[in-house]
Amino acid sequence: MDLMNNSIENVLAEFFKSTDFKKIEIIQSLWSGYGEIARYRFTSPELIQKFGIRQFIVKHVSPPRQVCHPRGWSTSVSHQRKVDSYKVEVNFYKTFAEQCDAQCRVPTFIGEHRFIENGNPCQLILMSDLDDQGFPIRATNLTVQQTKLCIRWLAHFHAKFINSSTDHKHDGLWTIGSYWHLATRLEEWQAMPSSKLKESASKIDKALNKCKYKTIIHGDAKVANFCFTPNYSDVAAVDFQYVGSGTGVKDLIYLIGSCLSETECKNNFTLLVNDYFDCLTHALGLYQPMLDANLVVIEWQELVDLAWADFERFLVGWAPDHKKRNQFSQMITNRALASI
Ligand SMILES: Nc1ncnc2c1ncn2[C@@H]1O[C@H](COP(=O)(O)OP(=O)(O)O)[C@@H](O)[C@H]1O
Ligand SMILES: [Mg+2]
Repeated sequence: MDLMNNSIENVLAEFFKSTDFKKIEIIQSLWSGYGEIARYRFTSPELIQKFGIRQFIVKHVSPPRQVCHPRGWSTSVSHQRKVDSYKVEVNFYKTFAEQCDAQCRVPTFIGEHRFIENGNPCQLILMSDLDDQGFPIRATNLTVQQTKLCIRWLAHFHAKFINSSTDHKHDGLWTIGSYWHLATRLEEWQAMPSSKLKESASKIDKALNKCKYKTIIHGDAKVANFCFTPNYSDVAAVDFQYVGSGTGVKDLIYLIGSCLSETECKNNFTLLVNDYFDCLTHALGLYQPMLDANLVVIEWQELVDLAWADFERFLVGWAPDHKKRNQFSQMITNRALASI
């Protein structure tokens, strides 16, 4: 253990050409034992000045040989997806993060480093510490007002990176963003009992993927991946392992399902969807003045229920008893199935 930590400290010392930093704490270990996230502090004014920050985060990824998954899926497919996801995250930070402004804030990328640790390939991603930049609050559920803050983040992020499918791809990211899309979840699809949703899975998937207007979606925009200011006046996002091309409404429905109770979803779904499209229209005006925002809105509005049903398809195969599956999610899914 000491040896491992020592080697990380050595790698960091080499990277910074200095030992003027100190580990403050481990924030958490990564999903299924793929590494850890830790918080560090610079201990000299020189480094603070050089990087413009006082604290930084190290996401240390070291894929295990023995894969042990909390829900029992531990196939090479899911292992490979995970390994690839960390490469995608680095690509996002290297190429796209700096385009994100205060309306869709993300950590500042400091650097990355690959090395061999105990015979295994490892990777470090270094980035600014959002807690120290004014975003120390995490939440497990949100009020409708707070949800709107995340929706505003999504709308600006989506508007920033939108292009039509004839343009070049979002290089280095997933061709299809999100961790649940059908192509990477065939085992889960097979595990589904027969149903209209199972039969329609491919049709729903195609409808989502063939849209003309595509942006970069976050791909895992759940409440746990947002960091808030203490009074919930502003928000930033982390965790870019599943960023890739897609319609923005995939992030929207996943966010809403992740932070509101069934009753709140039922009472506010239409309002929040409308709020997203208002924010998106505004943000497109800001970032893409040459684009007719209405065309995007019209196309994506048609995909909201389908995006919901698509995530439901994943849940049915992956964790049929998941608490996100309820009467409301069934209602939206049925509405989607009736529409195709
Ligand atoms: N740059 C950062 N600044 C502050 N906190 C962060 C930062 N990056 C990650 N975290 C915290 O660590 C948690 C886990 O990081 P994340 O990248 O989401 O890893 P995982 O893939 O395990 O979910 C986040 O939910 C967030 O609370
Ligand atoms: Mg996360």
